[in-house]
Formats: sequence, C-alpha cells, structure tokens
Amino acid sequence: MSNKKTVILVGAGLRGVVYTNYILKRQEDYQVVAVAEPLADRRTFLQKTHNIPEDMVFEDWKDLLAKPKMADACIICTMDRDHTEPTLAAIEKGYEILLEKPAAENPEDCMKMVLASEEKNVNVLVCHVLRYTPFFTTLKNLIDDGAIGKVMQIRHTEDVGHLHQSHSFVRGNWGNSDESTPMILQKCCHDLDILQWLVGTRCTRIQSFGKLSHFTKENCPEGAPLRCIDGCPVGDTCYYNAAKIYNDPNSPEWFKTAATKKHDPTPADIDRALRTTNYGKCVYQSNNNVVDHQVVNMEFEGDVYASLSMAAFNQGGRDIYIMGTGGTLYAKMKDDHITHFDFKTGETKEIPVVNAITGEHFHGGHGGGDIGIMQAFFERMKGEYTGKSICSLRQSCENHLMAFAAEKSRLEGTVVDMNEYVAEVENSIKG
Ligand SMILES: NC(=O)c1ccc[n+]([C@@H]2O[C@H](COP(=O)([O-])OP(=O)(O)OC[C@H]3O[C@@H](n4cnc5c(N)ncnc54)[C@H](O)[C@@H]3O)[C@@H](O)[C@H]2O)c1
Repeated sequence: MSNKKTVILVGAGLRGVVYTNYILKRQEDYQVVAVAEPLADRRTFLQKTHNIPEDMVFEDWKDLLAKPKMADACIICTMDRDHTEPTLAAIEKGYEILLEKPAAENPEDCMKMVLASEEKNVNVLVCHVLRYTPFFTTLKNLIDDGAIGKVMQIRHTEDVGHLHQSHSFVRGNWGNSDESTPMILQKCCHDLDILQWLVGTRCTRIQSFGKLSHFTKENCPEGAPLRCIDGCPVGDTCYYNAAKIYNDPNSPEWFKTAATKKHDPTPADIDRALRTTNYGKCVYQSNNNVVDHQVVNMEFEGDVYASLSMAAFNQGGRDIYIMGTGGTLYAKMKDDHITHFDFKTGETKEIPVVNAITGEHFHGGHGGGDIGIMQAFFERMKGEYTGKSICSLRQSCENHLMAFAAEKSRLEGTVVDMNEYVAEVENSIKG
C-alpha cells in the first residue's frame, strides 16, 4: 500500500504556491490532489503544475470542503480574514491542517478554532515559520542548554524595510486593517510568538505605541498624480515610484507576482497593474491605515522583559539581543552566526547557524522557515517528528492574543493585563 501523503490546497496565491512547490519536489512521498481558488490564472497554474484532474478543481473552498474527506491534509492559504471559516470546515472533516498566519482576524475566532480542534482532536499547525528556521532553533537550543543562564531581557527588532512596507503595507494586501488585520498581528505575530517561545513563560502585561506618520496625504509631494505613471514631478527621485519598483529586474519576483496576481507575469501584466491596481498608486495617496512604526513592551512570568521594535524606515531584516544571568546572545538573522558572550570565561564566540537536518547553513524563504515547517508538518503526520518547534493551536492563539492586546494598548493608551484580557475573550465566547 502506498504511504504517500495527500494534500488539498485552499487558496493558490503566493503562499499556496510556496508550500505546494515543496511537495512538487518530493512527489514520491506527497501529492496535491485538489485545489480551490477563485482566480482562473492561479487555479489553472496550480492544476497544471500538479496535474490535478478537472473534477478536483474548485473555485471556492466551500465546494471543496463540502465533499467527503479526500486527502490526509488541508493547507489553508487564503487571506487573513478568510481563515476561520475554512479552518472550522476542515476541522469538521478531520483533515490534518496547515494554516497560514494570522490564525484569525480577531481573538474570539482564534479561540473558536482552538475549541473546535480540541473537541475533534485535530492538529492545526499555524505557519509561524520562524520557529522552523536554523537561526531561531539554534537560539532556542542555546538557551535551553543554559548557554546564558536564566533569560532576563530580550531586545528584538523587526525592520520591515522601506520598500517592503510600501509594497505590502501601503499599496498591498495588508495596507488597510479594515480589509486585512492590524500590522502588529500581520507582521509581528511571528516575532511575538518567537519571544514567548524563547522566554518559555507566559506574557503577563503588554504595552504599545505606534502610528501611521509618514505614508499619509500630508506628506504627498506637491503636484503628484494619483498614479506614479501619470507624469509625477518627483518621479525621478522618489524611492517609491511604482513604475521603477515593479519594472526593476532587481526587485523581488514576489513583488511582481503579488501586484499582477499572476504567477508568471509579463511586462504587459505589470503595466496593467500600474494602471489599474493599488500597486500603481502614489504611496502618499493610498487607502492605507496601518502603522509605519510601532514599539511593544512585554513582561513575562519570572520577571523577564522584552521589547519589540517594528519600523518601515530601514533596509529590512531582524535582529535579536538576548541577555541572561550568565551571558548574552546577539544575532542578525541574515548572518550565518550567533555571537555568544560568556560571563564565566569572558570569551566571545561565533556560533554557526546550521540546518540541523542537512548540516548546512541555508536560507531560502523566511530564512529556511518555509521548508522547515513543511518538513515538520509531514514528519508529525508520519509520527516521525522529534523537534521542539511545533506547538498546539492553543499555544499559537495564546501568542496571537499578545498581538491583539498590543493593538488594544496602542489604540487605548493602556497597559493590558494579559490574564484579564484572556479571561475577557473566553467570557465573550461563552456569553
Ligand atoms: N507565514 C508567513 O510568513 C506569511 C508570509 C506572507 C503571507 N502570509 C499569510 O498567508 C496568507 C496568504 O497570503 P498570500 O500572500 O498568499 O495572499 P494571496 O492573495 O496571494 O493568496 C490568497 C489566495 O486566496 C484566494 N481565495 C480567495 N477567496 C477564496 C476562496 N473562497 N476559496 C479559495 N481561495 C480563495 C485568492 O484568490 C488568492 O489567490 C495571508 O493570510 C498572509 O497573511 C504568511
């Protein structure tokens, strides 16, 4: 009997293709057997790539998940506000689930999914891909092995990058929280999850400041048209000129794929996107409302403190400084090493970041996290998982609550007590 694991895909956008491409390279073990995607180009691309029969191709997840269970696993890669319903439907059918983050757009939906998955005893793995990177697993192992004693404080930075901000959080899918989710959830639920994982205890209080200050109409250059291609007087010098960004051969491919909604865009597709979509608009005249800089302070059980800085105004990348009673760990995610200072010896050492499986340092999507999570997802399904990155949906959602609480603090100017906040959410579901 074949031991091949089969998968259905909900949402064949950028993330759906990243995960199913992993499967494509391991067809002797895994296979995509059905897809649901409303956009014809994306649907056909996925169908052809995986050779999926016509009767297993759907325009809407509702039709796919209305069918009897047809595979081992379901990968859900729809947009932020379309996660809860398909996940609840897939839980009901008993699929093993890989769910893109954020798990849901609000704390109540997060908890609803937790309760449903626990009742049906179904695994839902949220794509906190950073947990599966060689970088963060090495840091976690060093802390667990006592390299710096007890963790006391962490300074963590998520530099979004000025162009990434303009693409995703001004012009793109996540620019407006009314259509997607707040930026601290969307961009930093990874970071908050990682901080909780590294500290190893629960967050007790959280506080945040943040604002949209730069990408606003008040900063629009005089005479700038709504679309960059319509003769902008500062087009030559503006870093955010859309015509330059999306036609630049050095721009990331996924900028173009996202802007055109085509997996293999032509120059004509890009031209159309510049003329007809938000991706062609002036960054100072878009309908964005998410912050462009934010800070979060956290208190954890055991008197551990952490701070997170997220801002648009930089080149991009993450770095982390972890201070313990016996030493420090400092690292930039783009580097291939972690710097360890040991109080006992007074020595500073560079510890290489390597993939525990292949012994190599590799990057790739999200510092190796995209591959890492797929490996872990399938290993668990086969009963072979031995790592410490996988966590329950409950743990993921509790960590998401830190992001919702940070947003509440930012908007209300308060310090949020996490115990009270979690109780509030649980009561609102019961009530
Ligand atoms: N883990 C990470 O680091 C990471 C990185 C980027 C994005 N994401 C998350 O992944 C999710 C998807 O992001 P993306 O960039 O792939 O977006 P995308 O817009 O490229 O893909 C979403 C796809 O869902 C499809 N869809 C919409 N309605 C549907 C329906 N009823 N049935 C089936 N499919 C439907 C859309 O047509 C689209 O193709 C988002 O929630 C995003 O926040 C996670």
